[in-house]
Amino acid sequence: MSNGNMNLTLKVWRQKNAQTAGKFVSYKAENISPDMSFLEMLDVVNESLTHKGDEPINFDHDCREGICGMCSLYINGHPHGPKRGITTCQLHMRTFHDGETITIEPWRAEAFPIVKDLAVDRSAFDRIQQAGGYVSVNTGGVPDGNAIPIPKVIADEAFNSATCIGCGACVAACKNASAMLFVSAKITQLGLLPQGQPERYRRVQSMVAQMDEEGFGSCTNTGACEAECPKEIKLTNIARMNNDYFSAKLFREEEVHEQNH
Ligand code: SF4
Ligand code: FES
Repeated sequence: MSNGNMNLTLKVWRQKNAQTAGKFVSYKAENISPDMSFLEMLDVVNESLTHKGDEPINFDHDCREGICGMCSLYINGHPHGPKRGITTCQLHMRTFHDGETITIEPWRAEAFPIVKDLAVDRSAFDRIQQAGGYVSVNTGGVPDGNAIPIPKVIADEAFNSATCIGCGACVAACKNASAMLFVSAKITQLGLLPQGQPERYRRVQSMVAQMDEEGFGSCTNTGACEAECPKEIKLTNIARMNNDYFSAKLFREEEVHEQNH
């Protein structure tokens, strides 16, 4: 188009709820600025659907700054779209070309039932967190916490794991719908720090047990999770979690601590 804006065709998954069958429906997205985010483009489409009296497309979003992990869209076969290391809300329409057809689907995993259209219920992640993804020992106030010496390399690793936003793209990307990357990031974030030690082995067992209960699949080391994670969480988190898990199962808590220190 002369003004640089784009006309696109969207193939969008529409589904009333988890009980009904869904199907792809085609929509036109017209006069879309390349500077819009993917979610802003969907806002434009929804506005025109609403004006026509049609039901707008249901999709999840909140912060639109890559922080909350809500914008869970499968775009052209990739969770969060074709660009590495970004969320859907950070994806700009300049990534696409005028005249292109874009396919948009929800996360597909048994443990993430469809709420409506593109929105899925990811509360399974909350329940895994509630099973042990916290520190309940009294670590004192902020100055006390900051006074604990932690080697820079460990602090950096813990921080990198803590950047997981719980979006679920790892599950969506995995052929087994495994949640191991998410769970291992949450476990590693706390397990590396001194404040996380007292509950470290109980934590890994409870969180893994909850993960299994929620119906997520097993990890077969395919690596799709790492490749598609918008925060580039590393597979080494899974290795660390497995190590803690087997240690916790094979040894008494005191022996595990002795081995690892
Ligand atoms: S590990 Fe990555 S893909 Fe999985 S929930 Fe965390 S941020 Fe999302
Ligand atoms: S809307 Fe919050 S990360 Fe995308």
